[in-house]
Amino acid sequence: MKIKIAEDYYQMSRIAANIISAQIIIKPDCVLGLATGSSPIGTYNQLVRWYEKGDLDFSEVTTINLDEYKGLSPDNPQSYRYFMNHHLFDRVNIQKSRTYVPDGLEADAEKACADYNAIIKNCGGIDLQLLGLGRNGHIGFNEPGAAFEKETHCVNLTQSTIDANSRFFSSEEEIPKQAYTMGIKSIMQAHKILVIVNGIQKAEIVKQAFFGPIPPQVPASVLQLHPDVTLVADKEALSLL
Ligand code: GLP
Repeated sequence: MKIKIAEDYYQMSRIAANIISAQIIIKPDCVLGLATGSSPIGTYNQLVRWYEKGDLDFSEVTTINLDEYKGLSPDNPQSYRYFMNHHLFDRVNIQKSRTYVPDGLEADAEKACADYNAIIKNCGGIDLQLLGLGRNGHIGFNEPGAAFEKETHCVNLTQSTIDANSRFFSSEEEIPKQAYTMGIKSIMQAHKILVIVNGIQKAEIVKQAFFGPIPPQVPASVLQLHPDVTLVADKEALSLL
């Protein structure tokens, strides 16, 4: 694993955006695996700035997002489809038809997951997967205890994730309790993985995930077994090492 130490969130975002840009420049029709949460917002802002300057072209890029809340429609501001449109897709020249997010409105979980697995396969695999890190070590919505061999599946969110994400909803009742997520197996099949982490509140889980044993209780720890992982973290997130 390569580790890049950033001074702060801004620098972490610039380094991550640089790595994603390099991927797009080397392979203009690449497949990017994308993430939501507060961690990647700065990265997406930087990519938009470089697009606006004429340095980046998304016209042939395909994107596959990690996850979506079950039950939220694309026009719900808390849905991950809405997040992606708002922070990236509506701001660059990507073809919307090539941007994939699990269908939160598909009530049949088996169908939603099978459809998404087919999309990932039909795209020919993910060139570069961007990941944030949940406070409990989750990646996508693969919560502690998730089997490492799963593809896209429906998960019951843990209380810790519901609590962490409650800041985005006006009441706890509004927070979905289930989500569709790419599984660990699908994530591990990406050719390259880019993890971004910032803030003191992630320091303990960074230590456990990347410098400890590899139990399913810390889903991100499995990334230690991937041959091409770059961790870009700010000093606070690395402060316990
Ligand atoms: C959510 C997402 C994850 C993300 C995590 C961390 O649970 N499903 O993909 O990595 O939040 O979020 P943040 O970046 O806001 O800490």
